[in-house]
Amino acid sequence: CGIVAYIGHREAYPLIIKGLKRLEYRGYDSAGVALLTDTGLNVYKKKGKVSDLEQSLGEEQLSSHIGIGHTRWATHGEPNDRNAHPHYSHTQKLAIIHNGIIENYGAIKLNLQNKGYAFHSDTDSEVFVNFIEDIQKETYCSLEEAVRLAMQEVVGAYAIVLINREEPGTLIAARKGSPLVIGVGEGEYFFASDATPIIEYTNEVIYLDDFQIAVVREGELTVKNIENIVLSPYIQHIELELEAIEKGGYEHFMLKEIFEQPRSVKDCFRGRVNADEGHLVLGGLREYLDDIAKSQRIVIVACGTSWHAGLVAEYVFEELARIPVEVEYASEFRYRNPIIKEGDVVIAISQSGETMDTLAAIELAKSKGAIILGVCNAVGSSIPRTTHAGAYTHAGPEIGVASTKAFTAQVSVLTLMAIAVARRKGILHEDTFRRFLFELERIPEKIEKVLKNAEKIKEISALFSEARNFIYLGRGLNFPVALEGALKLKEISYIHAEGYPAAEMKHGPIALIDEDMPVVFIATRDQSYEKIVSNIQEVKARKGKVIAVVTEGDKLIPTMADHVIEIPITHEVLTPLLSVIPLQLLSYHIAVMRGCNVDQPRNLAKSVTVE
Ligand code: G6P
Repeated sequence: CGIVAYIGHREAYPLIIKGLKRLEYRGYDSAGVALLTDTGLNVYKKKGKVSDLEQSLGEEQLSSHIGIGHTRWATHGEPNDRNAHPHYSHTQKLAIIHNGIIENYGAIKLNLQNKGYAFHSDTDSEVFVNFIEDIQKETYCSLEEAVRLAMQEVVGAYAIVLINREEPGTLIAARKGSPLVIGVGEGEYFFASDATPIIEYTNEVIYLDDFQIAVVREGELTVKNIENIVLSPYIQHIELELEAIEKGGYEHFMLKEIFEQPRSVKDCFRGRVNADEGHLVLGGLREYLDDIAKSQRIVIVACGTSWHAGLVAEYVFEELARIPVEVEYASEFRYRNPIIKEGDVVIAISQSGETMDTLAAIELAKSKGAIILGVCNAVGSSIPRTTHAGAYTHAGPEIGVASTKAFTAQVSVLTLMAIAVARRKGILHEDTFRRFLFELERIPEKIEKVLKNAEKIKEISALFSEARNFIYLGRGLNFPVALEGALKLKEISYIHAEGYPAAEMKHGPIALIDEDMPVVFIATRDQSYEKIVSNIQEVKARKGKVIAVVTEGDKLIPTMADHVIEIPITHEVLTPLLSVIPLQLLSYHIAVMRGCNVDQPRNLAKSVTVE
């Protein structure tokens, strides 16, 4: 879910709506605002997109200088008007917006119901706001004190902002586990799930920490912790450019982000890779490089596309740094008493830096004495703040729900890490090292070259936009790429797709092959080339339709495949950075042709801050 709130001299409503649109990638089942106006505390909410809310409001009198807004990704209760946020307390004195989950809401609700409270939604958030109001009523305390007391009782994750009919100059926010950023302007304050709704007004932000409460009262901000101690928050200056979060002439964010990859990969290498001088620096890892080089084992934890980047990293680390790597879904890792020894290295990969399961996996590994490294994109997010060290991917904000440029940036950073560790271990020969640096510097222009095939990929997409299933096959480093290609297609076009190691095809998926089954092979020139050629023949023998991603100049595969997309030659280890690009474009075009909402696919959210 995404939350936005404002208090200050501007008109709150248009500002909140604009902010919610920027946050819509976080969830878009329903949206709502609460505004404090001359007529009182008014809540407006609607199932659907922020634009549906806007339309439903029409000519309403919405002038106000204080308000809260929310765009929802449903957890408790189906997405409908009733369950949309904000939620009133039962007296309608308070309204709340909430991102996260209150796990013990059932017990609290029962208690409140026994006291005669009535509920109008199925949400845990409505329970939370009533709980706060009840505490205030029972103890005659201030609202922020009631919030603080409530925080001691509720179990779960939340970022909340509360508005109070009886205190028109006040907003109260609190956080545990879900992100919350406060923008500090001149006599005005902004609250949001990330900095994107804020940056056009101010670059000065405070990232609220867990168990902190922020109160704005009569233009003054106070931050307290759950022990009621007033803190002096660190105001950070952020460098986010507005154009980085706008579409800039592209039809969709996803397309813009695909085309940004030459630049985002370059940004990721900037200041880190220098082939002329023969150096590779990862500043954020400097102090830990020796420990990583000495480690007996690396465990990678991540979810979704980031998990696929982890699988690529497994190959690269084992190949270059000769350290055994395990790649785990963060959600599986955390619930099975994993064996972690002191000195083991755990790398958490996350675009948003907020994924709840990944965060929890980090906490668990930390408690067992592991060295925790983060590979994250969102600067200042929760994961980089809790790891021992790490490297940002510097891909810039990724707004399209289907991850593209974040993936290539993750793979880039992880590859740099593996090379740096191999170097530190003394097992990467100077010549090989130099060759890597040289090849890395060429990756952005090679991605550019792949993107030049966009028209051809669009034509191929047109032939398959009605397909009902897809299979993606690759070997070695291209196996995770196959998984990522299949995920991209599923996510945005709703076509069922599966990724498999090409050799596994004969153990099951081959049964699916007939003339209606498109099979995407990632068949670049590498050590398993001959084997994958045989796999292509096996598919053709069963009349499957083959789309092959091949290395430039390949003469053999074009004689067998129905469609061929070429990518430039690079070092085998770096191939995924190129081979994934055609698959991103293929899924993008197919989804557009099917009329799907590419940037906001149904049921998905970009930042999953629930378990
Ligand atoms: C969600 C997004 C995916 C993403 C995954 C992990 O499912 O839709 O695109 O890969 O979360 O997110 P993270 O921010 O941790 O990389």
